[in-house]
Amino acid sequence: MSIKEEQHIAHKTIYLETFGCQMNELDSELVQGQLTALGYIFGDDRESADVVLFNTCSVREQAENKVLSRIGKLGIAKKNGREVVVGLLGCLPEREGKRLLGTYPQIDFICGPSELDRLPSLLHNAMVGEMVSAAERSALQGNRSRRSSSLSAAEDNLELLDLSRAFDPDFRQQSGKSAYVRITRGCNKFCTYCVVPNTRGAEVHRPPDTIVDECRALVKSGTVEITLLGQTVNHYRYTHGIAMNAEGREVPQIGPGISAFKKPIEENQKVTTFAMLLRKIHDEVPELQRLRFVTSYPIDFGDDILNTMRDCPRICNYLHVPAQSGSNAILKKMNRGYTVEEYLKFIERARTIIPDVEIAGDIIIGFCGETEEDYEATRELLRKARFKNNFVFHYSPRPGTVAIDRFEDDVPREVKKRRLNELLALGGEISESVHKAYEGRVVEVFVERLSPKTSQQKGVELKWEQPSIQLSGRTGGDLICVFDVESHEKATLLLGTLVQVCITSSAALLLKGVLQASEC
Ligand code: SAH
Ligand code: SF4
Ligand code: F3S
Repeated sequence: MSIKEEQHIAHKTIYLETFGCQMNELDSELVQGQLTALGYIFGDDRESADVVLFNTCSVREQAENKVLSRIGKLGIAKKNGREVVVGLLGCLPEREGKRLLGTYPQIDFICGPSELDRLPSLLHNAMVGEMVSAAERSALQGNRSRRSSSLSAAEDNLELLDLSRAFDPDFRQQSGKSAYVRITRGCNKFCTYCVVPNTRGAEVHRPPDTIVDECRALVKSGTVEITLLGQTVNHYRYTHGIAMNAEGREVPQIGPGISAFKKPIEENQKVTTFAMLLRKIHDEVPELQRLRFVTSYPIDFGDDILNTMRDCPRICNYLHVPAQSGSNAILKKMNRGYTVEEYLKFIERARTIIPDVEIAGDIIIGFCGETEEDYEATRELLRKARFKNNFVFHYSPRPGTVAIDRFEDDVPREVKKRRLNELLALGGEISESVHKAYEGRVVEVFVERLSPKTSQQKGVELKWEQPSIQLSGRTGGDLICVFDVESHEKATLLLGTLVQVCITSSAALLLKGVLQASEC
């Protein structure tokens, strides 16, 4: 980069807003690290920033609408003379980037999740105000079509992007005490309602040694808790020795057991399964205090994973394993590949092998053709599965999915709304009883932050004493836990550490307790 070019970057401020899942949160963190290293400065004022970046989600229409309304406002500001570069990253441009560039001239460039390694050059071009063609405004010119590509330099570059931030704790949550590590990209499941296989492409597995190296580097730079990420994280499976780059280094593989070069797997080839990866990280990074993973797929869940969780004390006893529906007819239409009975058997197996495991779920309500009986079956599933919390979403038809083409979105809005509210209420009752069962127990809590005001107000409602200083963290089972400390100095000391808390009271999504050093 020339001196003249560097002057365009120096001290330019970027406002970056992130929507969607943990994958996007991680991508944003990597983008921030990458661009900060180039001299950009990140700030939290959208109105005054030189550059506004949205890392978008496409999973529901609502998520897209939020971003588009912000884009609309920026369009007006630009017309009124504001000089700002607007970039759209993530899943929305991957889904329909070209149309967006045509419809919204205020967008200076777009960059899908598979092309983040090219973000600095796209942004730079926009910053220097070069006359760029529509093709150059986009990193998505069908070239690296994500579903059709075999392993390419693109994956190698993304691998480098993943590795780049491991050494700099400043860009991570809780000042680097808690970090995400991606183990797979993409998804091969094709649930009929879901846009993710289109936006994130085919499933790609990272080599285990690279993952362990990244975990080790994170721990060295102060990380206490690592969450492994994948759309179907437990589907991880790496076959060694069949995907090498020119330097003989192992590179990510596409799909379980299928190398980038599509060589057949030979009998004596070594495979690292998800259970083996968990144990490897646990054993080879002994200073790591907590290891988690999200999101799990209900099938692909062998006892080997559950046994590893039970046997490795620093792996958290927590599973986020969405059911999506309690009706077999709907599950079939969703192409989820399991029945309610199989799902419940899995939950039972998990609770037998790991007695104190906590389980969270997701449900889509009002999917095409969902009858009152289907909905009742979902209520029944909730009662049986006893999730510590359960996310409920209205079905949102997504362009490019099988469901939007083949099935009618025929559940009326008000019926969806009623079912959603009723399910939330039922989920709340179940959460409350799950949390109540912790009263009187001592739990280990990873202290994340000063408690937000809302939880203090909850405390007041429950007639808890108004706290002087309240800290908030999570148990291994991912239950939120708050407790009081007497001074700011003590709070600062405890942030980012693991403490023992005796639970004295609870609410639907909250435990409250006292530090175990005090009386229980
Ligand atoms: N890979 C994860 C989920 C990723 S999307 C898994 O399979 O479990 C996160 C959640 O969004 C899903 O669990 C589902 O409940 C919800 N979701 C996905 N597509 C949706 C749609 N079209 N409408 C409503 N909710 C949807
Ligand atoms: Fe979407 Fe299904 Fe893949 Fe999850 S498993 S990301 S819901 S296609
Ligand atoms: Fe959304 Fe993309 Fe994640 S669609 S849920 S940000 S993978």
